[in-house]
Amino acid sequence: MLETRITKLFGIKYPILCGGMFWVGRAELVAAVANAGGLGFLTAATYPTIEELRDEIRKAKDLTDKPIGLNINLFASARPQPIEEWVKVAIEEKVPVVETSGRAPQGIVEPLHQGGVKIMHKVPGVRYAASAERLGVDAICVVGHESGGHPGMDEVTTLVMVPAAADVIKLPLVAGGGFADGRGLVAALALGADGVLMGTRFMATKECRGQDAFKEWMVHASETDTVYCMKSIMNPSRLVKNSVVEKVVDLEKKGATLEEMLPLISRQGPAVVDTGNMEDGLVSMGQSVGLVHDIPTCKELIDRIVEEARKVQEKLGDIFAATRSA
Ligand SMILES: Cc1cc2nc3c(=O)[nH]c(=O)nc-3n(C[C@H](O)[C@H](O)[C@H](O)COP(=O)(O)O)c2cc1C
Repeated sequence: MLETRITKLFGIKYPILCGGMFWVGRAELVAAVANAGGLGFLTAATYPTIEELRDEIRKAKDLTDKPIGLNINLFASARPQPIEEWVKVAIEEKVPVVETSGRAPQGIVEPLHQGGVKIMHKVPGVRYAASAERLGVDAICVVGHESGGHPGMDEVTTLVMVPAAADVIKLPLVAGGGFADGRGLVAALALGADGVLMGTRFMATKECRGQDAFKEWMVHASETDTVYCMKSIMNPSRLVKNSVVEKVVDLEKKGATLEEMLPLISRQGPAVVDTGNMEDGLVSMGQSVGLVHDIPTCKELIDRIVEEARKVQEKLGDIFAATRSA
């Protein structure tokens, strides 16, 4: 056990969360994180139909008796998203926690709460955290500029974002963006968070969907192998550095519109992960890929993070004890 306000709120053993990851965060990964003592989120937007989403939730529940979560993406989208149906299925399938992201979860907090579902809202800025708190969510996750997916417009790093949020947020707080190991967990707790959320690090695990070649690329990548782009079209993203993203950046420099960029940016998600060909399209990835050196199981990863955190905490204790006695 490593008890914080987050472990108590979600009924989990360790304050280690795997954020929703479009396409890759499937039942096998979410259940493996749960069985290892953390909390993982399926991603509603991955499934073309509600019945496929329902089947995936049931599959995850068959693989674990621990709490699992569902990411409900509220990002503006070219296609209208069936948000009300996602909320309904979360309630019907008794998913204990929903992670919302993209914009304020206006209108869905009350139905989810009435259905017995807790809500963690994920934001890339302190001001959004404060407004989500006012909406009555149960926990907040702030993600900094390092993070994979959508790090937000402000380009504020996790090191500043987390304590700035902790200064104003009363709710249990999760830190995301750049975490991959026990050092990060201790740092997050020291900065005022009650837990960490990781995406990138969980992609390089045995249970995550994806070709071995894709995961091997992650093992050999460095912290400079991602690109932050698409701010000009209000869709800031951190992605794997490849020839496709370079074309996106070139178009941005030329002042291209969303419509002009669409043929390139719609190639996001499945291809790279499923073929292992790193030039096959765009894929989200955080700077923490530079901290990925192997492909463990989720249990090996989480056990290692907890063990390393304990060692770091002991080391810090020794440093402060020596300082006091000096
Ligand atoms: C491949 C990938 C797909 C993601 N898809 C989503 C998504 O669909 N919805 C969402 O809210 N966040 C998404 N994220 C963000 C993660 O949930 C998490 O916030 C982020 O990865 C944390 O930063 P880290 O990558 O540095 O660990 C995605 C991240 C990655 C790496």
